[in-house]
Formats: sequence, structure tokens, C-alpha cells
Amino acid sequence: MKLSVIGCGYLGAVHATAMASLGHEVVGIDVDEERISLLSDGKAPFFEPGLDDLLTQARDLGALTFSTDISLAQGAAVHFVAVGTPQRPDGDGADLRFVDSAIAALLPILGLGDLVVGKSTVPVGTAGRLAEQIRSTGARLVWNPEFLREGFAIEDTLRPDRLVYGVTQNGSAERDVSILDEIYRPAIDAGTPRVVTDYATAELVKVSANAFLATKISFINAMAEIAEVTGADVTQLADAIGFDARIGRRFLNAGIGFGGGCLPKDIRAFSARAEELGVGQSVRFLREVDAINLRRRQRVAELIADAFDGEPQDRHVAVLGLAFKPDSDDTRDSPALDVAQRLHDAGAVVHAYDPAAIDTARRIAPDLHFAESVDNAVREAEVVVVATEWREFREMLPESISQVTRSRTIIDARNCLDPQAWRAAGWDYRGMGRP
Ligand code: UDX
Repeated sequence: MKLSVIGCGYLGAVHATAMASLGHEVVGIDVDEERISLLSDGKAPFFEPGLDDLLTQARDLGALTFSTDISLAQGAAVHFVAVGTPQRPDGDGADLRFVDSAIAALLPILGLGDLVVGKSTVPVGTAGRLAEQIRSTGARLVWNPEFLREGFAIEDTLRPDRLVYGVTQNGSAERDVSILDEIYRPAIDAGTPRVVTDYATAELVKVSANAFLATKISFINAMAEIAEVTGADVTQLADAIGFDARIGRRFLNAGIGFGGGCLPKDIRAFSARAEELGVGQSVRFLREVDAINLRRRQRVAELIADAFDGEPQDRHVAVLGLAFKPDSDDTRDSPALDVAQRLHDAGAVVHAYDPAAIDTARRIAPDLHFAESVDNAVREAEVVVVATEWREFREMLPESISQVTRSRTIIDARNCLDPQAWRAAGWDYRGMGRP
């Protein structure tokens, strides 16, 4: 099928490439010339395992092109809208300006029978409004939210846990479902569950899934706070409750809290939208989820200050990890980078290292000292902080690190190290919600 993908950020670039790898003819459109030029050269504009290879393969097949010229999307049977919906600069709601401009740009090229497929995360009610806008062109709208995780984006796109199609109730639903089934044929044939809903449900599935995940993380971080005053161990607690299949162990890792381009802004936008709809109290707990999450960053900063008897000025700290999670160069709302910046603001000398995220971090926090390796970061340090659980850090040998640094204090903000091994090597180990 001939497809266009409007917006080639994380979601769109991966979606365009994955669809081309399935044999569709895809044009990816973005207003950012630098991004389009990288993608046209077969280079992912961000760190995502496997994306470069898949891009090159699809491009060499001739099935995938990128452009800033939206008129090249004309003639595609299906137009995916995959632009970002960041937090508004003046509040908690979602900023829909990119969605609105994508639809405005599509309007002149839409033809009778075209399908516009919304993938962006939007406040409930948006799809209905956009469907009205495109109605006069004879095109139809489907809302098909995306659940991809950074680091697993290709896998999540090609082999998703489920597909959700939010369709209009005015008679074209069957046709629209069969078009999407055709696009996602391999996943459908592999038995991927497919849930067909109305627009509002599809929009809400996405935000409620993220709200649930955020709540799960903040729940265990709240238990970490309790553990910190009772001497309990939140990691063992998570293991023990996680054996209950109704609870499950995944997303119960206490630590520095969640960040990234999705969870934080999506729960805020959900709260803001619920308040607009007069049902703010239904999700008021998400405000608490957010507050617990932000307290974890404060807690890490306090642990570090405590290590300096409350006076971190001019003291040297190594921060290992800047990305919001491992296998990503994304530092949007990253708790790791936030802690590094807080330390810097408190007068500490921060030596920061990340296997992939230094360039993105430098743009946000240019004043940190960036190191090219763990060894360089820890050399001068008096305290070492593990802020993102990259494999490289999880596998560090305390004996080897001892040889290159004068520090003997390690703060494991992700609970990803073995406390016994570090203590046995003479380190003062401090975890999150662990004695
Ligand atoms: C998330 C959702 O998982 C995905 O379905 C949605 O489409 C986009 O948002 P992503 O932002 O890539 O994906 O990251 P995810 O793997 O969900 O992690 C989010 C944050 O939670 C990270 O900062 C991570 O470090 C943190 N986290 C995750 C924890 O602190 N503890 C956990 O147990 C799990």
C-alpha cells in the first residue's frame, strides 16, 4: 500500500521504517530539514537499536523516502499522523499545535476515500474534532494509538501486544478496519489481539495505559519512602508482591522515578483534560503519582548532599547515566539529568557520563563536565551516582572502579547494583528504599 507518515520524530520515523519493511511504499514527511536529510541518508536521528539497519534496507529497496514537501504525500491511500504532543509551555495540558498543523497541511491533498490514521497521543475528544475538519474532503479518520517503548520501538511496532482501532460509527467502520488489517497483516496473522473501539475509547486506552504504568512505578516508589523510614528493603518487597500474578513484577523497580517524552507529560495532560471535562477528581491520584515521582529526584539529591555533610559546594560527583532510561539517548524530562543539574546548581562539580546521551544532555545542561568514559567520570569523584541502569554500569566491578577513583561512596539511584559486592569491596553503598 502507498502510505504517508506525517511527523518523523521517534514515533513517525520508526513507524515509517517499519511499514516500509513490511513491503509498503512509504513517504515520511517532516518540517525539520536536518532530520529529513539524516533519514534520507539512512541514519536514525536518535539512538534506537536496529533502526539504522532497517532504514538502510528499506531505503535500498526503494520503498522508503523522506521529504519536507507534504505534496509528496498526495496519492497515498493512508496518511499516518505521528507528530509530537508535548506539554504546553503555559500549563499541564497537551500542546496540539503540531497535530493541528499536520491536519491543516493534509487538507489540500486529501482525496475521496483516503484514510487519515492518528497515532499521536491526544486528549480525549481530539479525534472527533479532527474528523469534522477533514469530512469535507471525503477522507475518513481512524485513531490508532501507538504503545512503543524507546529501545524496543521496532519490535513494539512490528509485533505489538495489541492493536487498537478507534473508528467512526457512521457506516465506514468495516472498511476502515480491513484497511488497517491489511497494513498490519503480519501482526494480524500472528494473532495479535485487535480491539476495535470508538474514537474516545481509543484515545483513552493510550493515556490510561501510560497512567497505569506511571502509577505502578510511583506505587513502588511510595513503598521505597516507607522502607526508608522503617529499614525495610523495597527490592525484596517488589519481588515478593510481584510473584502474585495479579500484581506482576514488571514496572516495580523503585529508584529515581520515571521520565522521558511520554509518561510525565501524558499523566499531566490526562489530569488537565479530566479537569476540563469536570471529572478531575477521577484522576486526582495522578497528581500524587507525579508528586511521588518528583520527590525521588529530590531524595537522590539529598543522599548526595548527605554524603558531603550537607555541603556539596565544590565537591566532585560522578553521575553515571543521563538518559531517562538505558538504551536511549533521550534526556527529555530525564530524572538522571535533572539530578545532575540540581547538583551543579548546588555548587557541586559534576562529572557526567552516558554511553549515548551526552550530545542530547549537553544541549539541555551545557555547564556539566562531560566525560568520555566511566573511568574519566569517576577519576576525580568523591561520590559516584548511578542514575541510569545501562548494562555498562550494572556490570561494573567494584574492585576495578576502586583503582581509578578516590571515591568509596556509591549511590545506586536505580537499585541496579549488588550491594553486597560493593560493600565487600570497601564501598559505602546507598540504594533507594534499601537499608
Ligand atoms: C512509555 C510506555 O512504556 C510506552 O508504552 C508508551 O508508548 C510511551 O511511554 P518509554 O517512555 O519508552 O515508554 O519508557 P518506559 O520503558 O515505559 O519507561 C518509562 C520510565 O519509567 C523510564 O524513565 C524508566 O526508567 C522508568 N521506570 C520503568 C522505572 O522507574 N521503574 C520501572 O520499574 C520501570
